[in-house]
Amino acid sequence: MASSVSWSIAAVTVLFLIMQVLAGRDFYNILGVSKSATTNQIKKAYRKLARELHPDKNRDDPEAAERFQDLGAAYEVLSDPDKRKVYDRHGEEGLSKGDMGGDPFSSFFGDFGFGFGMKEQEQEVPKGGDVIMDLDVTLEELYSGNFVEVVRYKPVAKPAKGTRKCNCRMEMVTQQLGPGRFQMMQQQVCDECPNVRFVPEEKLLEIEIESGMRDGQEYPFVAEGEPHIDGEPGDLRFKIKQIKHKKFERRGDDLYTNVTISLVDALAGFEMDIKHLDGHKVHIVRDKITWPGARMRKSNEGMPNYENNNVKGSLYITFDIDFPKGTLSDEVRADLKKLLNMESKHTVYNGLQGF
Ligand SMILES: *[C@@H]1O[C@H](CO)[C@@H](O)[C@H](O)[C@H]1NC(C)=O
Repeated sequence: MASSVSWSIAAVTVLFLIMQVLAGRDFYNILGVSKSATTNQIKKAYRKLARELHPDKNRDDPEAAERFQDLGAAYEVLSDPDKRKVYDRHGEEGLSKGDMGGDPFSSFFGDFGFGFGMKEQEQEVPKGGDVIMDLDVTLEELYSGNFVEVVRYKPVAKPAKGTRKCNCRMEMVTQQLGPGRFQMMQQQVCDECPNVRFVPEEKLLEIEIESGMRDGQEYPFVAEGEPHIDGEPGDLRFKIKQIKHKKFERRGDDLYTNVTISLVDALAGFEMDIKHLDGHKVHIVRDKITWPGARMRKSNEGMPNYENNNVKGSLYITFDIDFPKGTLSDEVRADLKKLLNMESKHTVYNGLQGF
Protein backbone atom coordinates (compact mmCIF):
# COMPACT_ATOMS: atom_id res chain seq x y z
CA MET A 1 0.00 0.00 0.00
CA ALA A 2 2.64 2.47 1.15
CA SER A 3 4.83 1.59 -1.78
CA SER A 4 2.04 2.13 -4.32
CA VAL A 5 1.40 5.59 -2.86
CA SER A 6 5.06 6.50 -3.12
CA TRP A 7 5.10 5.11 -6.65
CA SER A 8 2.24 7.28 -7.71
CA ILE A 9 3.89 10.29 -6.07
CA ALA A 10 7.02 9.51 -8.05
CA ALA A 11 4.97 9.15 -11.23
CA VAL A 12 3.26 12.47 -10.63
CA THR A 13 6.61 14.10 -9.93
CA VAL A 14 8.07 12.72 -13.13
CA LEU A 15 5.01 13.82 -15.06
CA PHE A 16 5.27 17.25 -13.54
CA LEU A 17 8.95 17.47 -14.48
CA ILE A 18 8.20 16.40 -18.03
CA MET A 19 5.46 19.01 -18.27
CA GLN A 20 7.82 21.62 -16.95
CA VAL A 21 10.43 20.73 -19.51
CA LEU A 22 7.86 20.85 -22.26
CA ALA A 23 6.42 24.12 -21.10
CA GLY A 24 9.84 25.74 -20.70
CA ARG A 25 10.81 28.02 -17.88
CA ASP A 26 8.34 30.38 -16.23
CA PHE A 27 10.11 33.67 -16.85
CA TYR A 28 7.56 35.71 -14.93
CA ASN A 29 8.06 33.51 -11.91
CA ILE A 30 11.83 33.70 -12.22
CA LEU A 31 11.70 37.49 -12.21
CA GLY A 32 8.96 37.55 -9.58
CA VAL A 33 6.72 39.85 -11.60
CA SER A 34 3.12 39.58 -12.73
CA LYS A 35 2.13 38.92 -16.32
CA SER A 36 1.00 42.51 -16.68
CA ALA A 37 4.30 43.97 -15.47
CA THR A 38 5.64 46.92 -17.44
CA THR A 39 9.06 46.79 -19.05
CA ASN A 40 10.22 49.17 -16.38
CA GLN A 41 9.09 46.88 -13.58
CA ILE A 42 10.78 43.98 -15.31
CA LYS A 43 14.01 45.91 -15.52
CA LYS A 44 13.85 46.86 -11.89
CA ALA A 45 13.12 43.32 -10.78
CA TYR A 46 15.98 42.04 -12.91
CA ARG A 47 18.46 44.52 -11.54
CA LYS A 48 17.55 43.69 -7.96
CA LEU A 49 17.75 39.93 -8.50
CA ALA A 50 20.91 40.15 -10.58
CA ARG A 51 22.63 41.75 -7.63
CA GLU A 52 21.34 39.10 -5.23
CA LEU A 53 21.90 36.08 -7.41
CA HIS A 54 25.24 37.04 -8.90
CA PRO A 55 27.46 33.92 -8.78
CA ASP A 56 30.31 35.94 -7.29
CA LYS A 57 28.14 36.55 -4.27
CA ASN A 58 26.93 32.95 -3.99
CA ARG A 59 30.13 30.99 -4.31
CA ASP A 60 29.01 28.16 -1.99
CA ASP A 61 25.74 27.61 -3.84
CA PRO A 62 26.30 25.11 -6.68
CA GLU A 63 23.04 26.16 -8.37
CA ALA A 64 23.83 29.86 -8.37
CA ALA A 65 25.26 29.91 -11.88
CA GLU A 66 22.20 28.18 -13.28
CA ARG A 67 19.77 30.46 -11.49
CA PHE A 68 21.71 33.45 -12.75
CA GLN A 69 21.48 32.08 -16.28
CA ASP A 70 17.73 31.56 -15.93
CA LEU A 71 17.43 35.12 -14.73
CA GLY A 72 19.39 36.40 -17.72
CA ALA A 73 17.23 34.42 -20.14
CA ALA A 74 14.04 35.63 -18.47
CA TYR A 75 15.20 39.21 -18.71
CA GLU A 76 16.33 38.91 -22.30
CA VAL A 77 12.92 37.68 -23.36
CA LEU A 78 10.58 39.77 -21.21
CA SER A 79 12.43 43.05 -21.74
CA ASP A 80 11.99 42.71 -25.49
CA PRO A 81 8.37 43.44 -26.44
CA ASP A 82 8.50 41.24 -29.55
CA LYS A 83 10.06 38.25 -27.81
CA ARG A 84 7.70 38.73 -24.89
CA LYS A 85 4.68 38.53 -27.18
CA VAL A 86 5.92 35.27 -28.64
CA TYR A 87 6.71 33.93 -25.19
CA ASP A 88 3.26 34.87 -23.87
CA ARG A 89 1.65 32.91 -26.67
CA HIS A 90 3.86 29.89 -27.07
CA GLY A 91 6.17 29.82 -24.07
CA GLU A 92 9.88 29.26 -24.30
CA GLU A 93 9.32 26.61 -26.98
CA GLY A 94 8.04 29.22 -29.38
CA LEU A 95 11.19 31.27 -28.94
CA SER A 96 13.86 28.67 -29.46
CA LYS A 97 12.33 27.51 -32.73
CA GLY A 98 13.42 29.70 -35.57
CA ASP A 99 13.49 33.44 -35.56
CA MET A 100 10.64 35.59 -34.35
CA GLY A 101 9.67 36.85 -37.77
CA GLY A 102 8.95 33.48 -39.30
CA ASP A 103 6.96 32.10 -36.41
CA PRO A 104 4.57 29.64 -38.12
CA PHE A 105 2.07 29.76 -35.26
CA SER A 106 1.52 33.48 -35.32
CA SER A 107 0.67 33.46 -39.01
CA PHE A 108 -1.56 30.42 -38.46
CA PHE A 109 -3.49 32.11 -35.69
CA GLY A 110 -3.47 35.37 -37.55
CA ASP A 111 -4.94 33.83 -40.67
CA PHE A 112 -7.68 32.07 -38.79
CA GLY A 113 -8.61 35.03 -36.71
CA PHE A 114 -7.53 33.65 -33.36
CA GLY A 115 -5.54 36.82 -33.01
CA PHE A 116 -5.75 36.98 -29.18
CA GLY A 117 -6.21 40.70 -29.61
CA MET A 118 -2.57 41.00 -30.56
CA LYS A 119 -3.04 41.70 -34.21
CA GLU A 120 -1.85 45.16 -35.18
CA GLN A 121 -4.51 47.45 -36.51
CA GLU A 122 -3.82 47.88 -40.16
CA GLN A 123 -5.99 50.93 -40.49
CA GLU A 124 -4.13 54.15 -39.96
CA VAL A 125 -5.45 55.95 -36.91
CA PRO A 126 -4.74 59.67 -36.74
CA LYS A 127 -2.29 60.48 -33.99
CA GLY A 128 -1.55 63.62 -32.05
CA GLY A 129 1.89 65.17 -32.06
CA ASP A 130 4.74 63.76 -30.02
CA VAL A 131 6.02 66.02 -27.30
CA ILE A 132 9.72 65.90 -26.61
CA MET A 133 11.11 67.45 -23.46
CA ASP A 134 14.68 67.72 -22.30
CA LEU A 135 15.31 66.28 -18.88
CA ASP A 136 18.44 67.59 -17.19
CA VAL A 137 20.13 64.90 -15.16
CA THR A 138 23.40 64.76 -13.29
CA LEU A 139 26.12 62.22 -13.93
CA GLU A 140 25.54 61.01 -10.35
CA GLU A 141 21.94 60.17 -11.26
CA LEU A 142 23.03 58.35 -14.37
CA TYR A 143 25.50 56.36 -12.30
CA SER A 144 23.26 55.32 -9.43
CA GLY A 145 19.82 55.75 -10.95
CA ASN A 146 17.07 57.93 -9.53
CA PHE A 147 13.35 58.58 -9.65
CA VAL A 148 12.13 61.95 -10.83
CA GLU A 149 8.57 63.19 -10.62
CA VAL A 150 7.22 65.47 -13.28
CA VAL A 151 3.82 67.14 -13.08
CA ARG A 152 2.29 67.39 -16.49
CA TYR A 153 -0.79 69.35 -17.42
CA LYS A 154 -2.33 67.14 -19.99
CA PRO A 155 -5.28 68.23 -22.10
CA VAL A 156 -8.03 65.66 -21.60
CA ALA A 157 -11.10 65.43 -23.81
CA LYS A 158 -14.39 66.08 -21.99
CA PRO A 159 -17.90 65.92 -23.42
CA ALA A 160 -19.27 69.28 -24.51
CA LYS A 161 -22.49 70.64 -25.95
CA GLY A 162 -23.37 70.21 -29.58
CA THR A 163 -21.85 68.04 -32.25
CA ARG A 164 -18.84 68.22 -34.48
CA LYS A 165 -17.82 66.73 -37.78
CA CYS A 166 -15.67 63.66 -37.37
CA ASN A 167 -14.25 60.60 -39.12
CA CYS A 168 -13.97 62.66 -42.26
CA ARG A 169 -12.85 60.76 -45.35
CA MET A 170 -12.89 61.15 -49.11
CA GLU A 171 -15.57 59.15 -50.86
CA MET A 172 -16.59 58.75 -54.44
CA VAL A 173 -20.12 60.04 -54.93
CA THR A 174 -22.25 59.66 -58.02
CA GLN A 175 -24.62 62.40 -59.02
CA GLN A 176 -27.24 62.04 -61.67
CA LEU A 177 -27.10 65.07 -63.91
CA GLY A 178 -29.85 64.01 -66.28
CA PRO A 179 -31.21 60.89 -67.91
CA GLY A 180 -28.28 58.62 -68.61
CA ARG A 181 -25.77 61.20 -67.43
CA PHE A 182 -23.85 60.77 -64.24
CA GLN A 183 -21.03 62.59 -62.67
CA MET A 184 -18.65 60.91 -60.27
CA MET A 185 -16.57 62.98 -57.96
CA GLN A 186 -14.49 62.80 -54.82
CA GLN A 187 -16.18 64.42 -51.90
CA GLN A 188 -15.42 64.76 -48.27
CA VAL A 189 -17.92 62.91 -46.11
CA CYS A 190 -18.07 63.30 -42.35
CA ASP A 191 -20.00 61.82 -39.45
CA GLU A 192 -21.55 63.80 -36.66
CA CYS A 193 -19.95 63.09 -33.28
CA PRO A 194 -20.67 64.45 -29.83
CA ASN A 195 -18.61 67.54 -29.22
CA VAL A 196 -15.61 67.50 -26.92
CA ARG A 197 -13.46 70.16 -25.37
CA PHE A 198 -9.99 69.79 -23.95
CA VAL A 199 -9.52 70.50 -20.28
CA PRO A 200 -6.05 70.49 -18.77
CA GLU A 201 -5.69 67.88 -16.09
CA GLU A 202 -2.83 67.52 -13.69
CA LYS A 203 -1.00 64.26 -13.96
CA LEU A 204 2.02 63.06 -12.05
CA LEU A 205 4.53 61.16 -14.12
CA GLU A 206 7.24 59.19 -12.45
CA ILE A 207 10.40 58.86 -14.46
CA GLU A 208 13.06 56.40 -13.56
CA ILE A 209 16.52 57.57 -14.45
CA GLU A 210 18.00 54.15 -14.98
CA SER A 211 21.61 53.39 -14.21
CA GLY A 212 23.76 53.77 -17.27
CA MET A 213 21.29 55.77 -19.37
CA ARG A 214 23.05 57.80 -21.99
CA ASP A 215 22.95 61.42 -22.99
CA GLY A 216 20.28 61.89 -25.65
CA GLN A 217 18.46 58.68 -24.76
CA GLU A 218 14.69 59.01 -24.86
CA TYR A 219 12.28 57.86 -22.25
CA PRO A 220 8.83 57.43 -23.74
CA PHE A 221 5.45 57.77 -22.12
CA VAL A 222 3.13 56.23 -24.63
CA ALA A 223 0.00 58.27 -25.30
CA GLU A 224 0.95 61.14 -22.98
CA GLY A 225 1.68 63.58 -25.80
CA GLU A 226 -0.62 65.88 -27.73
CA PRO A 227 -4.18 64.56 -27.89
CA HIS A 228 -5.93 64.06 -31.20
CA ILE A 229 -9.64 64.71 -31.36
CA ASP A 230 -10.31 61.85 -33.77
CA GLY A 231 -7.51 59.50 -32.90
CA GLU A 232 -4.90 58.54 -30.42
CA PRO A 233 -2.73 60.94 -28.51
CA GLY A 234 0.94 61.21 -29.44
CA ASP A 235 3.71 60.17 -27.12
CA LEU A 236 5.53 62.20 -24.54
CA ARG A 237 9.23 61.61 -24.71
CA PHE A 238 11.77 62.78 -22.22
CA LYS A 239 15.21 63.24 -23.63
CA ILE A 240 18.01 62.64 -21.16
CA LYS A 241 20.41 65.56 -21.11
CA GLN A 242 23.45 65.07 -18.97
CA ILE A 243 24.64 68.14 -17.11
CA LYS A 244 28.39 68.69 -17.42
CA HIS A 245 30.20 67.33 -14.41
CA LYS A 246 32.98 69.16 -12.62
CA LYS A 247 35.28 66.20 -12.14
CA PHE A 248 34.25 63.41 -14.45
CA GLU A 249 33.81 63.26 -18.17
CA ARG A 250 31.90 60.43 -19.75
CA ARG A 251 32.69 58.78 -23.07
CA GLY A 252 30.57 55.74 -23.75
CA ASP A 253 30.65 53.74 -20.55
CA ASP A 254 34.10 55.04 -19.59
CA LEU A 255 34.82 57.89 -17.22
CA TYR A 256 37.74 60.27 -17.41
CA THR A 257 39.15 62.44 -14.67
CA ASN A 258 42.23 64.58 -14.09
CA VAL A 259 44.35 64.56 -10.94
CA THR A 260 47.16 66.95 -10.11
CA ILE A 261 49.89 65.58 -7.85
CA SER A 262 52.99 67.15 -6.33
CA LEU A 263 56.46 66.70 -7.82
CA VAL A 264 57.49 64.68 -4.76
CA ASP A 265 54.55 62.31 -5.25
CA ALA A 266 55.33 62.10 -8.94
CA LEU A 267 58.86 60.94 -8.17
CA ALA A 268 58.44 58.99 -4.95
CA GLY A 269 55.08 57.38 -5.63
CA PHE A 270 51.86 57.91 -3.73
CA GLU A 271 48.56 56.57 -2.51
CA MET A 272 45.29 58.42 -2.73
CA ASP A 273 41.52 58.02 -2.85
CA ILE A 274 39.25 59.46 -5.51
CA LYS A 275 35.66 60.00 -4.47
CA HIS A 276 33.41 58.38 -7.04
CA LEU A 277 29.97 59.52 -8.21
CA ASP A 278 28.12 57.55 -5.54
CA GLY A 279 30.60 58.49 -2.82
CA HIS A 280 32.60 55.26 -2.78
CA LYS A 281 36.35 55.65 -2.82
CA VAL A 282 38.63 54.48 -5.58
CA HIS A 283 42.00 53.69 -4.09
CA ILE A 284 45.03 54.47 -6.21
CA VAL A 285 48.55 53.24 -5.48
CA ARG A 286 51.51 54.12 -7.63
CA ASP A 287 55.15 53.19 -7.05
CA LYS A 288 56.52 54.14 -10.42
CA ILE A 289 57.49 57.66 -11.45
CA THR A 290 54.54 59.58 -12.85
CA TRP A 291 55.12 61.95 -15.74
CA PRO A 292 52.79 64.75 -16.76
CA GLY A 293 50.01 63.27 -18.85
CA ALA A 294 50.51 59.73 -17.52
CA ARG A 295 47.25 57.82 -17.58
CA MET A 296 46.04 55.11 -15.27
CA ARG A 297 43.11 52.78 -15.94
CA LYS A 298 40.86 51.39 -13.25
CA SER A 299 38.66 48.73 -14.77
CA ASN A 300 35.08 48.38 -13.51
CA GLU A 301 35.05 51.92 -12.12
CA GLY A 302 33.36 53.51 -15.13
CA MET A 303 29.64 53.91 -15.75
CA PRO A 304 27.34 50.91 -15.46
CA ASN A 305 26.26 49.62 -18.85
CA TYR A 306 22.61 50.42 -19.51
CA GLU A 307 21.76 47.04 -21.00
CA ASN A 308 23.55 45.13 -18.27
CA ASN A 309 24.24 47.00 -15.07
CA ASN A 310 26.63 44.31 -13.91
CA VAL A 311 29.10 45.40 -16.54
CA LYS A 312 30.92 48.64 -15.96
CA GLY A 313 33.28 50.69 -18.07
CA SER A 314 36.70 51.88 -16.98
CA LEU A 315 37.87 54.95 -15.13
CA TYR A 316 40.83 56.70 -16.76
CA ILE A 317 42.85 59.01 -14.56
CA THR A 318 45.22 61.46 -16.23
CA PHE A 319 47.90 62.97 -14.01
CA ASP A 320 49.31 66.43 -14.07
CA ILE A 321 52.30 67.47 -11.98
CA ASP A 322 52.28 70.57 -9.87
CA PHE A 323 55.89 71.74 -10.23
CA PRO A 324 57.20 73.96 -7.43
CA LYS A 325 57.82 77.54 -8.45
CA GLY A 326 60.72 79.82 -7.64
CA THR A 327 64.38 78.91 -7.10
CA LEU A 328 65.88 76.26 -4.87
CA SER A 329 68.92 76.99 -2.70
CA ASP A 330 72.36 75.91 -3.93
CA GLU A 331 72.46 73.26 -1.25
CA VAL A 332 69.14 71.68 -2.24
CA ARG A 333 70.14 71.77 -5.87
CA ALA A 334 73.39 69.98 -5.13
CA ASP A 335 71.52 67.40 -3.05
CA LEU A 336 68.97 66.85 -5.73
CA LYS A 337 71.60 66.27 -8.37
CA LYS A 338 73.26 63.75 -6.13
CA LEU A 339 70.01 62.08 -5.20
CA LEU A 340 68.64 61.73 -8.66
CA ASN A 341 72.06 60.86 -10.00
CA MET A 342 71.06 61.51 -13.52
CA GLU A 343 73.21 62.84 -16.27
CA SER A 344 72.03 66.10 -17.65
CA LYS A 345 70.90 65.45 -21.12
CA HIS A 346 69.67 68.28 -23.27
CA THR A 347 67.91 67.94 -26.53
CA VAL A 348 67.51 71.12 -28.45
CA TYR A 349 64.62 70.87 -30.75
CA ASN A 350 64.31 73.39 -33.46
CA GLY A 351 60.64 73.58 -34.12
CA LEU A 352 61.25 75.36 -37.38
CA GLN A 353 63.37 72.60 -38.83
CA GLY A 354 62.40 71.68 -42.32
CA PHE A 355 60.84 75.01 -43.13
C1 LIG B 1 41.25 66.88 -18.24
O1 LIG B 1 42.20 67.70 -18.87
C2 LIG B 1 42.10 67.75 -20.28
C3 LIG B 1 43.29 68.55 -20.82
O2 LIG B 1 43.41 69.77 -20.15
C4 LIG B 1 40.76 68.38 -20.63
O3 LIG B 1 40.61 68.42 -22.03
C5 LIG B 1 39.65 67.56 -20.03
O4 LIG B 1 38.41 68.15 -20.27
C6 LIG B 1 39.86 67.42 -18.53
N1 LIG B 1 38.85 66.50 -17.99
C7 LIG B 1 38.08 66.79 -16.96
C8 LIG B 1 37.12 65.75 -16.55
O5 LIG B 1 38.15 67.85 -16.36
